[in-house]
Amino acid sequence: MATSVGRSPGRVNLIGEHTDYTGGLCLPLTIPYATTVTATGRADDAVSVTSSQQDAPWTGTLAMTGPGDAEGWAAYAVGVLWALGQAGWDLPGVDLAVDSTVPMGAGLSSSAALECAVAVAMAGLTGRPLTPELRRRLVSVCRRAESEVAGAPTGGLDQSAVLLSSPGAALLIDFEDGSVRDVPLPWDAAGLTLLVVDTQVSHTLTDGGYGARRDDCVRAAEMLGLPSLRRATLADLDRLDEPRLRTRVRHVVTENARVEDAVAAIGAQDWPSLGRLLNASHASLRDDYDVSCAELDLVVTTALEGGALGARMTGGGFGGSAIALVPTERVDAVRRAVDVAFVAAGFGPPRHLDAGPSGPADLV
Ligand code: GLA
Repeated sequence: MATSVGRSPGRVNLIGEHTDYTGGLCLPLTIPYATTVTATGRADDAVSVTSSQQDAPWTGTLAMTGPGDAEGWAAYAVGVLWALGQAGWDLPGVDLAVDSTVPMGAGLSSSAALECAVAVAMAGLTGRPLTPELRRRLVSVCRRAESEVAGAPTGGLDQSAVLLSSPGAALLIDFEDGSVRDVPLPWDAAGLTLLVVDTQVSHTLTDGGYGARRDDCVRAAEMLGLPSLRRATLADLDRLDEPRLRTRVRHVVTENARVEDAVAAIGAQDWPSLGRLLNASHASLRDDYDVSCAELDLVVTTALEGGALGARMTGGGFGGSAIALVPTERVDAVRRAVDVAFVAAGFGPPRHLDAGPSGPADLV
C-alpha cells in the first residue's frame, strides 16, 4: 500500500495574542520541534492511529471520525480525515503512525502540528501537490477538525503559522482579510536568541477560560455594532458598560497596535523597542485579558532581571510557555535564573526549549 509522510512544526507567537478570533493581527513563527505522521493507505475503510507518545491506539472506520465519535488526542488526527471528507476528498482507509517532539500542553501548538501533519500526509497519499492554494485550504480543514471534532474553538493562528510560514521568518497574519506576509528575523546577526520556557503547568483550550474570552469579544463587538473587534478603537471603551468587557477590548485594541509596531521595530532592527512591546503585551494579557498565571509571570520578571530585552507569555495562556528575547551571551544566565526562581517559588521545574524560526509543514 502507498505510504506518505507529513511533518509539521509547532509554533510560538511572537506577538498578537488572543486577536485571531476577532479579525486581528498575529506574528507567529515555527519552532524546531515537529510532529511526523506516516500515513499508509488501506484497501478497506478502517482507520487506525498509533502514537509513540500515547499508550493506546485509536481504531475505527472513516465513518467514525466526525463530531462526537473520536475523543482525546486521536480526535485531532481523525478529525482531519472527517474535515477532508467534508471538503470533498474521497479518502481510503488509512493507518496513521504519529511521532512528535512538540511538547504537549505547553502552548506550542502540538494539536495544530498533529492536525497539519495528518493533512499534509493525506495530501501526499492522494497525490495532491502542496501548492500555496492547497495549504490555505488545509488551514481551514484543520481548523474545522479542531473546533468541530476536538471541541476546541480556536482562531486559526496555529494552523496558519505552521502551514504558511517560510524558513527564517515570522508570519504576519491579518485575520480580517486572511492575508499573510513574511517578516524576516535577523536575530542571529544581531546577537539575539529567542528563548522558550515551558512552565510545565498544563492548560487545555477545551476548558472554559478560552471560550469565555472569545464569547466576551463576540458580545463586545455586537454591543459596539462592529463586525469584529478589529474595527474597535480605544474611544469605544466608553461605550461599554461592563468593566470586564472594557478590559477585554482594551487588550485586543492595544495588542493589534503592538503587532504593527513590532513589525516596524523588526524592520528597523530596533530590538529595544521590540522588547518593550513584548513586555507591554504580557502586561496586557495578565492585567486586561486575565490569561496569565504565576508561573508565566515569574518567567517574564526573571528573564527581564537577567538581561532579556523583552518577555511575554505565548499562546492561549492559563499555563504553557513564555518567550524571552535575550542577548545570546545571556542565554545560560537567564535559564539558570529562571530555574532558581522556580525552586524558590516552590514551583516544579520548567523546561527550556529553543525557538526557530524553522520551516513550515511539508511532505518528508
Ligand atoms: C491558542 C489558539 C489560537 C489563538 C491563541 C491565542 O493558541 O489555538 O487560535 O487564539 O490561543 O492567541
